[in-house]
Amino acid sequence: MCGIIAAISRDDGLENAVISALERLEYRGYDSAGIAYLDRNQPVLCRIRATGRIENLKRKIAQRHIDGTIGIGHTRWATHGGVTEENAHPHACNGVAIVHNGIIENYQQLKERLKRNGYCFDSETDSEVIATLIAYNISDGLDFTGAFLKSIRELTGTYAIVAIHEKEPNTLLGAKNGSPMTVGLSPDGMNFYVASDAVALSSLAENIAYLEDGDCIIAENSDPAIAYKILDKSENEVVRQVVPNSISLKSVNKGGYETFMLKEIFEEAVVAAATYDGLDCNVDITKYGAISIIACGTSYYAGLLAKYFIEELAQIHVDVEVASEFRYRNPVLSPNSLYVFISQSGETIDTLCAMRLVKQRGYKTLALINVDGSSIAREADIVIKTASGIEIGVAATKTFIAQSLSMLMLCQKKEDIKMDQITSSINAVLNNCQQIANAAEKMKGSKGLVYIGRGISYPIALEGALKIKELAYISAEGYPAGEIKHGPIAIVDEDVYTISIAPYDKHFEKTISNTQEILARNGKILLITTKNSAGAVAGIVDHDNVDVLFLCDVEWPYQAFCMATAIHLLAYYTSKAKGHDVDKPRNLAKSVTVE
Ligand code: M6R
Repeated sequence: MCGIIAAISRDDGLENAVISALERLEYRGYDSAGIAYLDRNQPVLCRIRATGRIENLKRKIAQRHIDGTIGIGHTRWATHGGVTEENAHPHACNGVAIVHNGIIENYQQLKERLKRNGYCFDSETDSEVIATLIAYNISDGLDFTGAFLKSIRELTGTYAIVAIHEKEPNTLLGAKNGSPMTVGLSPDGMNFYVASDAVALSSLAENIAYLEDGDCIIAENSDPAIAYKILDKSENEVVRQVVPNSISLKSVNKGGYETFMLKEIFEEAVVAAATYDGLDCNVDITKYGAISIIACGTSYYAGLLAKYFIEELAQIHVDVEVASEFRYRNPVLSPNSLYVFISQSGETIDTLCAMRLVKQRGYKTLALINVDGSSIAREADIVIKTASGIEIGVAATKTFIAQSLSMLMLCQKKEDIKMDQITSSINAVLNNCQQIANAAEKMKGSKGLVYIGRGISYPIALEGALKIKELAYISAEGYPAGEIKHGPIAIVDEDVYTISIAPYDKHFEKTISNTQEILARNGKILLITTKNSAGAVAGIVDHDNVDVLFLCDVEWPYQAFCMATAIHLLAYYTSKAKGHDVDKPRNLAKSVTVE
């Protein structure tokens, strides 16, 4: 959460580099954005900040000419303090400016101490204390680097920080603990960058190095070239491996679609095929007595779906847990278990810390990630990378398909998987998108939504409810269809829509009975079923309150994939119908690096 970029620019490209990186980082948070830089001719600190999207910042920047050598930029996902310009980064104090991603847990104590020493604060953020602390340590006689290193040692919490100082205009400093940070030089060596991820550097640096927790970076714009060194937590100089930046700009565009999310949903069949072709899974899960899957959000639902796959096909017990609960409840671990961590970004802090807990206790970890070089990918014992390509829309869509198929490939032989059924049924849903858009139009005014399903349709129901909450801002819950009579049915009335996910499988009759129970209470229904149920749904489809979406007849468990595409499109079109920004829904960020 929050995107950071910093640059030393020996040519005149500072503004372009920082702004283009911020645009690519906006998916990490879009409550506000800002830059600070030192003017090339007269090194005074200049700061420009704006609430809302990068566009607002760009409008402000357009009013002046930025001719700087060194600068920092930030996109904010608010944690401490509301969405105001005062709370926007960079924060500054006495010519020191910083940007920060993470949470400083002891900021109140530091703030009180600094206030007692006469310092004032302009914002409600935890981050401002960092700039003030550095300024305070400078006033105490340290140079910028010494003050920075001393200040970092005083912080507790998570951070990726970069700092500049107008009195030392050739120095750029950074530090990382818990939040990701990467560095790279431009191919001509004229520019040096620090950023919170490789995407930010996709057009700037071909080769990058990932910093490790406790690392600090000291970069100097010196003659004849920019020089930088990395210090580890003991302040010893270290070398971090330089790797190619695998993110290309080509993959970071909408490819003619109106939004990234729509493009990404329309890639779901291709991603499934690429996942199948690219993955040679040589992990033998049969040698484990049990499997624990730990993840958050949509990745958690992919894990829940995998439970149905693995228990049915491999007959191995599977637990699935939300990472933020797992890591704090002193879990009982077993040497016979395989611990699987699913994370698109590979940066979700709860999933990362849950994985560290398992590793510390000496057990085997497998990570299913989508981002090369991410923290989870670098620390896991075994890594499986999904072949989704970069996902920009904040809502996870194609990565859910890739995660779910990768998990299926852990328990079903590659040659036994009927890929044609998966891809053709997804494509059929995509071709039928207008019908889903029509259903969305009807649902958009609902006061609440209920998603129900049994078996593999239950994780899909949960995924559908999450997606529509985050995109359409309608209160929605996913339930096992059999559970609704234990309470949830009380909310059903004519203003509540139920999405009943009932492929023609062994659960069909029972889910239809539960659907009838809702209909009997005047609820409106969107029934998502498969074409081979046509005879069996005859009694329900003629009802005025029922719309039906027929999916292709495919065998268990392949329906999971086209059902996922259908509920992704449903959330997309409902959000569009309500006029929301589907790629950047309110209050969210793509990469969740704070607790
Ligand atoms: O990067 P991760 O897969 O670890 O992210 C987990 C969740 O934050 C993520 O799936 C989130 O729930 C999505 N916005 C859902 O669309």
